Amino acid sequence: MAGTFDISLDSLAGRSVPAEDVSSECLSDSLQPIRKDRKAPKTAPCATGMRDGATFFLETFGCQMNDHDSEKVAGVLLSRGYRQVESPDAASLVLYNTCSIREKAAQKVFSRLGEYRTKQAAGQVIGVLGCVAQQEGEEIFARAPWVSLVCGSASYRKLPELLAQVEAGHQRVTGLNNDTDETFETPVTRRDNPWRAYLTIIEGCDKACAYCVVPFTRGPERSRASDSVLKEVRELADLGYSEVQLLGQTVNSYADPSSRRMRFSELLLAVADVPGMRRVRFTTSHPRDFGADIVAALESQPKLCNHVHLPVQSGSTKVLRGMVRTYTRDEYLEKIAMLRKAKRPIAITTDIIVGFPGETEADFAETLSLLEEVQYDALFSFKYSPRPNTPSLSMPDAISEEEKSRRLAVLQEKQRGIQSKRNASMINTMFEVLVSGKSRRENQWSGHTSCHRVINFTSQEQNLLGTYVQVLVTGAGPNSLAGEQVT
Ligand code: 5AD
Ligand code: SF4
Repeated sequence: MAGTFDISLDSLAGRSVPAEDVSSECLSDSLQPIRKDRKAPKTAPCATGMRDGATFFLETFGCQMNDHDSEKVAGVLLSRGYRQVESPDAASLVLYNTCSIREKAAQKVFSRLGEYRTKQAAGQVIGVLGCVAQQEGEEIFARAPWVSLVCGSASYRKLPELLAQVEAGHQRVTGLNNDTDETFETPVTRRDNPWRAYLTIIEGCDKACAYCVVPFTRGPERSRASDSVLKEVRELADLGYSEVQLLGQTVNSYADPSSRRMRFSELLLAVADVPGMRRVRFTTSHPRDFGADIVAALESQPKLCNHVHLPVQSGSTKVLRGMVRTYTRDEYLEKIAMLRKAKRPIAITTDIIVGFPGETEADFAETLSLLEEVQYDALFSFKYSPRPNTPSLSMPDAISEEEKSRRLAVLQEKQRGIQSKRNASMINTMFEVLVSGKSRRENQWSGHTSCHRVINFTSQEQNLLGTYVQVLVTGAGPNSLAGEQVT
């Protein structure tokens, strides 16, 4: 995809899958890319003193939840005296945070572990974290005996204890329970982005979509107490963050475990009220729990970004039933109608799976007609990938890889046309942009609008990074806008 087209959307899609598996919409994003090889950024050494030169290298695959888990894991390690390094060769501890949402992402793990082994320096400890760790468990030790630590995301809370065991020289340390009712909170999180902070408010998933491994790999839903969330938002504001993105596999299923019993929409408003916070985002919403109160909150509080990611997965009620998505096409469209009626325009994006078992040509045509009807601002599309333990694994009428690829291409082409038109209609409008990138080209900058479009723009000013500017749109491609700063 051309580098200029660049819409950046924060689905919780596991994005480390190979390019051919996913829609081009998510390939070239500046903030949330498919980073096949996300090496650690440079970080300051820890304040609490060095653990005798101990260093760690942490590589992350997958969704924003994984990105943010890695930020918290890095925080735990820094507070134990480790220093973060940018190459596995230089590290005493090599950690690999994995994704298993689609098969190809999961397959990568063992080839990567093979690479680590060949490079493995004497005494180096290798650990596997995340969804593949949870899914494969001790099998990882059998296939890669040079691994010493296997820890699923539901057990990160125990990470300090597990690390202590690793440091004491234990060979096969595991954290694999996912029956915890606690969330992973750390006193120190080492965040990668200086302006936008991720903040997980709900972990795990209690839905049971027939194709999805997440309920197995991330365990049951656990929400974080609203007071604790708000305290962290205040801390983030004090540190200079002006944008916060609330995360959860089903973020709007948030259920405050504290006596305040805040609803998700109330929490959104309370987060937006924290002095210093200018933008609040949230992802991913499940259509079933998406109520009128969330739309009312978006209408009443402009700090809540006007973008909702509402995965539909299919436009066919028959397929939705097979997927156990718990809504029909018409019920989903009612949620869309609610959003479209809002007092300010709200960008809507979605996830779609093509080639679910039994998906006929007519079912697929219904997905295409849904795209036409909704006019999404962007979409993430995936070929169905059979996953271990999931109910759809044993469903009849599998669709061939060739046909899945064909449908994916047709879907993406259709969406490209829709996006081209939608973005072109924005020429001559003004957007507030949080500036997050500076091009090597003179006077060229980039950032995001509240509706989460990427906009590349010109400005004669210096030092714009992290500031908010007004930009007039002068051009548009299917995946990004172009413009100039207006002073
Ligand atoms: N195959 C293909 N896509 C999947 N997703 C989740 N599980 C699968 C699977 N087995 C997609 C869904 C979800 C996104 C995060 O990943 O579209 O919304
Ligand atoms: Fe997976 Fe469905 Fe839960 Fe999303 S809502 S994480 S697709 S089981």
